[in-house]
Amino acid sequence: MSHASEKHLQLFVRQITTAAANASLYQLEHPQVLNLCHQAREQLQILFSETPEVTLKLIENRLICADRPVASNLSVERLIEGFKNLEISYLKMTPGISTDELLKLTSNLSKLRTKGQEPRKTEHLEYGQVEVRYRHTESGSEGYSAIADFSEIAEQDRDKFMDIYHDVRKKKQLNVVGISEIVGDFVNAFGANADVMLAMAPLRSMDEYVYTHSTNICLLNLAQAKLLGIEGPLLNEIGIAAMLHDVGKMFVSPDILNKIGQLDPEEWAIMRQHPQLGAEYLLNSPGIPRLAVVTAYEHHIGYDGKGYPETPHNWQLNTCSYMTSISDVYDALRTRRSYKEPLTFGQISAIMLDNAGKSLHPEMTRSFLNALSSLEKDPD
Ligand SMILES: [Fe+2]
Ligand SMILES: [Fe+2]
Repeated sequence: MSHASEKHLQLFVRQITTAAANASLYQLEHPQVLNLCHQAREQLQILFSETPEVTLKLIENRLICADRPVASNLSVERLIEGFKNLEISYLKMTPGISTDELLKLTSNLSKLRTKGQEPRKTEHLEYGQVEVRYRHTESGSEGYSAIADFSEIAEQDRDKFMDIYHDVRKKKQLNVVGISEIVGDFVNAFGANADVMLAMAPLRSMDEYVYTHSTNICLLNLAQAKLLGIEGPLLNEIGIAAMLHDVGKMFVSPDILNKIGQLDPEEWAIMRQHPQLGAEYLLNSPGIPRLAVVTAYEHHIGYDGKGYPETPHNWQLNTCSYMTSISDVYDALRTRRSYKEPLTFGQISAIMLDNAGKSLHPEMTRSFLNALSSLEKDPD
């Protein structure tokens, strides 16, 4: 969706949610409500000159249109509330939609709606739940497979992942196939879309920290790889490397891992062993891509080589290690534990730019932040 189209979409969302708010206050027949529905229809007509349908989807609390997250503002938040009240996760509108149909939508989004009654679809207006068909995506089949409902995927894959990590803790053999299946699910679910991966990662909840952190890094790495134009088997290897970058933490005592507050020097020394422990473990696991071993070992060394483990002066880091460091720092800043205030994107960006050329690869950090900032921008 072009920048111009996004503006029209934003206007549409504002007009339809204002119409719904007015209808709740006065009545559906109020001239202002009708006027706003007229205007909303005009915005849709402009959008239809570029696209055969306008479909809005609600995925993990984010509104998505044409596989891109819609920049959030008050109207978008209101529409999301409306979706939740209606218990729908998508709204599809096609050319020919009338003001009358938009009035029905307005009524459904307003407080006039009878609770519990399912919204009825009309000729050019459909509501429903996003279908999950991420395994066998046939391109063009009804159009809802491009982005599957990520929470569903995460749900199914989480159990698989937790089982695998449980085995690692018990020093059993690593289930490589399981890990690569999870990565395959992510790659399939998001298709060619780096933006949605970037948008989804910070939204993951904080429960099951290892899973959340690993999948966040996986999504952020996959997005970075896509920004670099990487496709095919290498993309999957990068995803696998990300899923396993902190596998060495499974050999660090949970008391240290979950400690709230600063680690003492002795605990810190143990914590700093996780890259080496992880790499050794992966090196002895058959079927693990070399890249995963290297990434586990290198992800804390840093662009300037001043991190850990200590390396010879001219050690050349792998690109995937640079990516993982960037994703790791971003995820740590974005999902700060609940006892701290969350940082804004501007603050995160400033911290990361300050480290660009020091611990973080400068160009890759800038292109990562650029991609993210275009998601944060509100065209209003
Ligand atoms: Fe790490
Ligand atoms: Fe990490």
